[in-house]
Amino acid sequence: EFKPLVFSGVQPTGNLHLGNYLGAIRKFVALQENNDCIYCVVDLHSITAQLVHEDLKGQIRSIAAAFIASGIDPEKHIVFNQSAVPQHAELAWIFNCVARIGWMNRMTQFKDKAGKDRENASLGLLAYPSLMAADILVYRATHVPVGDDQKQHLELTRDIAQKFNIDFMEHIRARGYGVDTVVGEEPVHAYFPPVEPLIGGATPRVMSLRDGTKKMSKSDPSDLSRINLMDDAETISKKIRKAKTDPDALPSELDGLKGRPEADNLVGIYAALSDKTKEQVLGEFGGQQFSVFKPALVDLAVEVLAPITGEMRRLMGDTAHIDAILRNGGERARARAEKTMTEVRDIIGF
Ligand code: ADP
Ligand code: NA
Repeated sequence: EFKPLVFSGVQPTGNLHLGNYLGAIRKFVALQENNDCIYCVVDLHSITAQLVHEDLKGQIRSIAAAFIASGIDPEKHIVFNQSAVPQHAELAWIFNCVARIGWMNRMTQFKDKAGKDRENASLGLLAYPSLMAADILVYRATHVPVGDDQKQHLELTRDIAQKFNIDFMEHIRARGYGVDTVVGEEPVHAYFPPVEPLIGGATPRVMSLRDGTKKMSKSDPSDLSRINLMDDAETISKKIRKAKTDPDALPSELDGLKGRPEADNLVGIYAALSDKTKEQVLGEFGGQQFSVFKPALVDLAVEVLAPITGEMRRLMGDTAHIDAILRNGGERARARAEKTMTEVRDIIGF
């Protein structure tokens, strides 16, 4: 069997928001307890949509600072940035040759980010999922905590791993690599594990505060649509007070949130921030108006986020410390990635 290993990444583009925190980083923190974890600032991904960045290094440091301020332990686990480990790009190239163009063309994130002028999108944006598969599989990681928007990319990661395993099955066996495992019902001899997404929780997809049908996103032009990790208490309060809602009181049962995306979103955020279920939150606030619920949500959000923001600011002031963490993480990641790549090169026949 494959050894359990958690891997995930966050792009160093723009402000981190509550969606990134609840969909990803908060889960990274919880998973450290019982797992070997690798958390990556995926800087190679950040040049797929926008090539030139004003202060990419500062953005990379700020994600690393957010990881650590949120409670990730960079000594027990690995925190690093992707470009420090060239094996990611090397495996991505091999996966570009394993994956099919049609698979990439079907990705909804590519369609969204490329927009109408698809012919003019970067080749890197099209191949993004191939690099993401390499990020995970260069460590032969088994579990990937992500937001719901990454589900399709993780299915593609499984497809790439499976095609590699099948295409090279005889080489893998002949060179004495791989593991006997079961995928679905099928017993197979695999080099790369079938990756499991970890998506659950009260907020697999945090929605915009201005439109309950759109995900909270860095790229939304309205800053009122998202709570940024660096927002101060006053800004958080303003954004939640202005968040779009309907005029009804909160229901006392989960069923009552159907067809009320904004209410559902705010209840989900409250639940995630307080480590409760949405049922428990409705047990507490069912029958109450938003004029009561919103201030409670403001207090909770500030209570959870303020210490993280403060610690992030402190860490950002000590760039030498952040850089040392990234350098150390990079070295440890590189050693593990190189072990895989030595075998992969041998499997292919280089
Ligand atoms: P973004 O999607 O904001 O550009 P990334 O692509 O770097 O940021 O995503 C980092 C992590 O945050 C991923 O696991 C992604 O699924 C998660 N994530 C991003 N937006 C949301 C959201 N609105 N709700 C839940 N998770 C999210
Ligand atoms: Na994303």
